Amino acid sequence: MIVVSEIQELKNIITDWKKAGLSIGFCPTMGSLHAGHLDLVERSKKETNKTIVSIFVNPTQFNDPKDFENYPINTNADLKLCEEKGVDLVFLPDVKTMYPETKTPILLSIPELQKHLCGRTRPGHFEGVLQIVSKLFHLTEPNKAFFGLKDYQQFRVISAMVKNLNFPLEVVGVPTRREEDGLAMSSRNVRLTEKHRETANLIPRMFALANKTILGGERDIHLLKEILRDFLLTGASVRIDYLEVVDPENLQPKEKLEGEVLLALAVFVGEVRLIDNQIISIQN
Ligand code: PAF
Repeated sequence: MIVVSEIQELKNIITDWKKAGLSIGFCPTMGSLHAGHLDLVERSKKETNKTIVSIFVNPTQFNDPKDFENYPINTNADLKLCEEKGVDLVFLPDVKTMYPETKTPILLSIPELQKHLCGRTRPGHFEGVLQIVSKLFHLTEPNKAFFGLKDYQQFRVISAMVKNLNFPLEVVGVPTRREEDGLAMSSRNVRLTEKHRETANLIPRMFALANKTILGGERDIHLLKEILRDFLLTGASVRIDYLEVVDPENLQPKEKLEGEVLLALAVFVGEVRLIDNQIISIQN
């Protein structure tokens, strides 16, 4: 496995691979890798000839400086996992390499898709994500890029950027990997105390309750949200950032519980912010 930190070194390798006619799969990450990230790698290895993983905790996407400072870093373990999984190249740049020019920042955004969910409660987050992902796409020149569907809004926003700005690549969404009790895997889970980890189990149980309530005939969105909020708030240390029902395509709030809906939430359990979502098909 090759590990590179410099852009020129990365570009030389990509040029050689392209010359040899090899396709490239790219899995961008912020490190602290878990089985969900490894699913991206596995998929990339199946569908392309060479797999690149980037590990970079991107400062421009953190609207809360404390969250950035506390983001877990685990580079040695990450490299070991990548090696074991058969990753071909890990790109491990530092902040100066990715952001040499800070005087004239470029802001990319897709306002329509960012009005709700994380776009509403984390101002500037998706501008930071789009900035770094577009830079990484230019540097790694992938044929396919793999993103976890736990960050559903991120997946939609990046897919729209790729389509609208004609990036020559396919964005692939990979299903969320879950712990045994249903909690979505996240690099942030390691920051949960034992007690808060138990409380976090309310999230998958809330999705089960949502499905059961809808199956039982409930069609009032406000009532459904109230039931789910009350359920989550039985956890003493839970603070709801948002709980929304939106259209999975345009991410606008649904007026009615019909067809396909995306139930998405972000909650703080103690200090740790967790997100999750589910697409629910409603038969009327
Ligand atoms: O999903 C993430 O880990 C990050 O938002 C990403 C896509 C690596 C950009 O920094």
